[in-house]
Amino acid sequence: MKAVIPAAGLGTRFLPATKAQPKEMLPVFDKPTIQYVVEEAVASGIDDILIITGKGKRSIEDHFDRSFELEYHLRENGKTDFLEQIESISELADIYFVRQKKQKGLGDAIYCSRKHIDGEPFAVLLGDTITRSKIPCTKTLMEVHEKYGASALAVETVPDEKIERYGIIKGKEVSPSTYLIEDMVEKPSSEVAPSNMAIMGRYVLESEIFDHIESIPPGFGGEIQLTDAMRLLDNIYGCVFDGKTFDIGNKVEWLKTSIEFAFEDPEARRDLVEYMREILD
Ligand code: G1P
Repeated sequence: MKAVIPAAGLGTRFLPATKAQPKEMLPVFDKPTIQYVVEEAVASGIDDILIITGKGKRSIEDHFDRSFELEYHLRENGKTDFLEQIESISELADIYFVRQKKQKGLGDAIYCSRKHIDGEPFAVLLGDTITRSKIPCTKTLMEVHEKYGASALAVETVPDEKIERYGIIKGKEVSPSTYLIEDMVEKPSSEVAPSNMAIMGRYVLESEIFDHIESIPPGFGGEIQLTDAMRLLDNIYGCVFDGKTFDIGNKVEWLKTSIEFAFEDPEARRDLVEYMREILD
């Protein structure tokens, strides 16, 4: 299965940090956000990844490319640890790029992948959400897709005050943690939302989705919404994600994620705890 990672958004929630750099390249501890996303796809068994980029996103291409100058420098200076890390990034998978010419929404960004996908089911991983779980989120969705022969997306329960940030589903539980989706709505107010189950940025979609994207008018925010196109699929399942998500599209959440990931490194953890005690005092 191929994966599509849309990374074409303007990152307005992150200005001014994202004025001249893509939000997907903001580091979370020691890696750019999008590298975690690519690693999830690879850990799910995917080796063909299409990243949808746009104007000002060149550094994403450079990140996944070889850097001969840097590799030469690291080799000459005996920095083999870094050298291995740097070389391995460009060997993660076959990574392709296509540009979305105009920012017309997530649905339109996905539509840019139709020729590369060429009629097969495919995975979608949003470039600003990181997941952590025993079994990679995308792999679980691939298994659900295989079991039911239909599209699948990951959901998680969110509190009322966060509902309006997400696509929200209404579903009927067909097996533990799996819902047949009856309806979904993009960023509803908590008063009209059909549930608290939010679409969290991981999908496996049948390629009919492209016909539906073509047929829908602009929706929430005047944009072509993937959620509106998914409503038109014959069958789609919602799978409650058994892990933790980090939504990097928000400054404080991004900082919290960086701290949490830094805590996984014993040395960084020690230094940070000491520093936090100091500043809290
Ligand atoms: C997008 C989707 C939304 C989903 C969210 C997850 O919204 O349109 O349905 O719940 O990602 O992060 P965005 O965050 O791009 O506005």
